[in-house]
Amino acid sequence: MGEISRDVVVIGAGVAGLTAANDLKKAGLSVAVLEARDRAGGRLWTDVIDGAMLEIGGQWVSPDQDALIDTIADLGLETFSRYREGDSVYIGPDGVLTRFTGDIFPVKAETEKVMVELIDKLDALVAQVDPDEPWTTPDAEELDTVSFEEWLHRQTDDQEAIDNIALFIAGAMLTKPPHAFSALQALLMAASAGSFTHLVDADFILDKRVVGGLQQVPLLLAERLGDDVFLGQPVRTLEWGDDGVTAIADGMTVRARHAIVALAPVLYNRISFVPALPRLQHQMHQHLSMGFVIKVHAVYDRPFWREQGLSGTAFSPYELSHEAYDNSNHGDERGTLVGFVSDRLADDVFRISAEERKERILESLSHYYGPEAKNPVVYYESDWGAEEWTRGAYAASFDLGGLHRYGADLRSPVGPIRFACSDMAGAGYQHVDGAIRMGHLAASQIVDEARA
Ligand code: FDA
Repeated sequence: MGEISRDVVVIGAGVAGLTAANDLKKAGLSVAVLEARDRAGGRLWTDVIDGAMLEIGGQWVSPDQDALIDTIADLGLETFSRYREGDSVYIGPDGVLTRFTGDIFPVKAETEKVMVELIDKLDALVAQVDPDEPWTTPDAEELDTVSFEEWLHRQTDDQEAIDNIALFIAGAMLTKPPHAFSALQALLMAASAGSFTHLVDADFILDKRVVGGLQQVPLLLAERLGDDVFLGQPVRTLEWGDDGVTAIADGMTVRARHAIVALAPVLYNRISFVPALPRLQHQMHQHLSMGFVIKVHAVYDRPFWREQGLSGTAFSPYELSHEAYDNSNHGDERGTLVGFVSDRLADDVFRISAEERKERILESLSHYYGPEAKNPVVYYESDWGAEEWTRGAYAASFDLGGLHRYGADLRSPVGPIRFACSDMAGAGYQHVDGAIRMGHLAASQIVDEARA
């Protein structure tokens, strides 16, 4: 394809990169988007597997996610609500299943009291956190140098309350064990969604889906860019200096005045920066790592759990699949369950054969929904850990102490290079909403600079 010149080269056709490229184009700048994969969308990916439409990556939209909601409206997409009629289920440490409604798990009265106190305390702390600058939180260093698990142990010795509160951030969001990230990182996660209470409320955080799948957002954004999106073009080298950048991909080279690197930060080291990035960036990027979760899809001839008065919403920190939901598609008579297996448990099941893994995961789902759950007509595991251009799920977070040490530098430009990704967002952190916000931000900074 040879060499082309543009005002801006965007590396990565995920939502962040495509949002930025559209903004730049609207502002009259020329762009080229180089994408390593043979599809646009990155961590958003809708596919038909054995006849079932599955959202392999991100899918849910919550009411606080204004940037995503605006984009969905702008693209003319329709949303629908997650099915939530009926009882949720909870399995406690003794393996006993209890039905419940509302947000608070049906635990014994003392544990419930501790859980409510912890949620209140976390909400009060979260209210002090600016998600765009969590390092300015009072006692940021202290909160960032204690693990979330240890912080919880300092508040209570009620293990079931600890396990449940940890679940909302660890298994369900950062997809790392609660000893592996700080209390400040946990507060950022909650602040990015408005409050800790929002994370506890599945009907808030997992509210809506897009009819036909959320990948339509990047696909339609890419469509608007037409021939300016180049698929199958992993950027291997990014030369930069006062005069601009040269991005060298497998089949083409783009010269531009600016670059936006719109990848998960764990992948920056796949690009040879010439000259090398400053040492602060080298260090900082090594303190960020992806979480790890398997998203499990099980499709049945009908949503049989609804016949039992179940909503499909299920939680247990003691189960292999720590949470599961009714994920039936809009207008589809079949029923789909989606379950999640996180961090160490995901490691464990990837050490056994695919058949045994499927059996163990379906066994876990059957604990919530009964034996019928063991016989789906379609079964699929989203395995983002095996994807070369993502390497984990859902997103990246700092290790202990990394957030207050490096957080303020995460979005800093390096010469003509800017960075944009959901993994560096404040509001919408680790979500599509955050990716869109970061795309808008990087583009607006370049437009401002171009006009100055
Ligand atoms: P993203 O990773 O999507 O895009 C980066 C792009 O860069 C990719 O297309 C990649 O191929 C490309 N690339 C990498 N290296 C390159 C190179 N060297 N050269 C060229 N291209 C390169 N969010 C949400 O809001 N609701 C939800 O329900 C969920 N659920 C969920 C489930 C699962 C299983 C996953 C994996 C993720 C979610 N998420 C989510 C998170 C959400 O999907 C995610 O935050 C955003 O899609 C990230 O968008 P970005 O554009 O920031 O990165």
